[in-house]
Amino acid sequence: MEKRKIQIFDTSLRDGEQVPGCKLNTKEKVSIARKLEFLGVDVIEAGFPTSSPGDYKSVQEISKSISKTVVCALSRAIEKDIEIASLSLKNAKRPRIHTGIGTSDCHIRYKFNSTPEKIIERAIHAVKYAKKFVEDVEFYAEDAGRTENEFLAKVCETVIKCGATVINIPDTTGYCLPEEYGNKIRFLKENVKGIHKIILSTHCHNDLGLATANSLAGIMNGAEQVECTINGIGERAGNTSLEEIVMIIKQNNHLNFFTDINTKLISSTSCLVSKYTGMKVQANKAIVGVNAFSHSSGIHQDGVIKKRETYESINPEDVGICESSIILTARSGRSALAYRYKKLGYFFNKNFLDSVYSIFLEYADKKKEITDIELKIILDKVNLKHKKNNQILHSHSRNDRRINVI
Ligand code: KIV
Ligand code: ZN
Repeated sequence: MEKRKIQIFDTSLRDGEQVPGCKLNTKEKVSIARKLEFLGVDVIEAGFPTSSPGDYKSVQEISKSISKTVVCALSRAIEKDIEIASLSLKNAKRPRIHTGIGTSDCHIRYKFNSTPEKIIERAIHAVKYAKKFVEDVEFYAEDAGRTENEFLAKVCETVIKCGATVINIPDTTGYCLPEEYGNKIRFLKENVKGIHKIILSTHCHNDLGLATANSLAGIMNGAEQVECTINGIGERAGNTSLEEIVMIIKQNNHLNFFTDINTKLISSTSCLVSKYTGMKVQANKAIVGVNAFSHSSGIHQDGVIKKRETYESINPEDVGICESSIILTARSGRSALAYRYKKLGYFFNKNFLDSVYSIFLEYADKKKEITDIELKIILDKVNLKHKKNNQILHSHSRNDRRINVI
């Protein structure tokens, strides 16, 4: 069976940036956008130009610097927003306007004090208006996660008739369970006339930690695009994280999906986004956390040293990390200790390793992690002890020279 391409729509610079404490200047946004283009994303959502002059400028500059990737600007279903979005995209080689409106009862009643009929009218007008400026118009049905499927289908069918090229089904509040979200996508695929002419997109928030699972359910039920952010940054608990969905697709060949992402650039992109946004990545974050390829318990370390796959299902090289780390703590065993000394150029026989290990444990019980410098201090201490006892040496340097003369 032929593999199906999943488009990666990165919204780190729009949904990702709209969080407390995260502020990027135009220069930083342009560098991130360039990196995203190298990474191979299909669409870069560059900002919400109507929101501030700074955001307008950023979308403008990104539009000038990006050559192949679609550059997208967000707008509400308001003429002025759409005009500003189109102006900011003037220099984009492949511009897209992303416009839309809330479709759930809650949004219709409380946010807009409106009716479903009037919301459909506004959706029609927004898409038709955006089409005057660009060919590629994406429509979002905000809070689609809590929108009744029949009404959502009606909205989708209407905007397709108006020329929408992509329809985004956001689970804005991270409300859905994967099965529910998958069924929603399937329902739209099976019940909306013209749905096969457009790209159906997922946009899942992580309020219950289900953003990636929901996006996966979405593509497994027919969606062709995933909206996501680097490191999963975004409103409240964040968005689907790009690295997770991309690596799920890569690791699971049987799903028959592919993306155009160069996964070897994932780690460096994650670092760049974290550095510029000031948003630290949690240590145990899948794929990009510092602990994602680190092993600290003796049993795991021993397994990984013998064969990496015993405790790793992803090859760190696939995401741009040269190798897994063996972290030395009081939980580490002799094989991890020998492995780390070997990396420093020291080779020990069994007796010598036993001596080093007992001193190592004294240090490790007092400290969280033992560094290379401390390994050298430990070695000096063992050598001194042996010298006092007038024992012969059993450690060798990498080129088999005897070291630590006693
Ligand atoms: O979460 C959401 O609904 C959004 C839309 C504005 C696309 O970010
Ligand atoms: Zn969102």
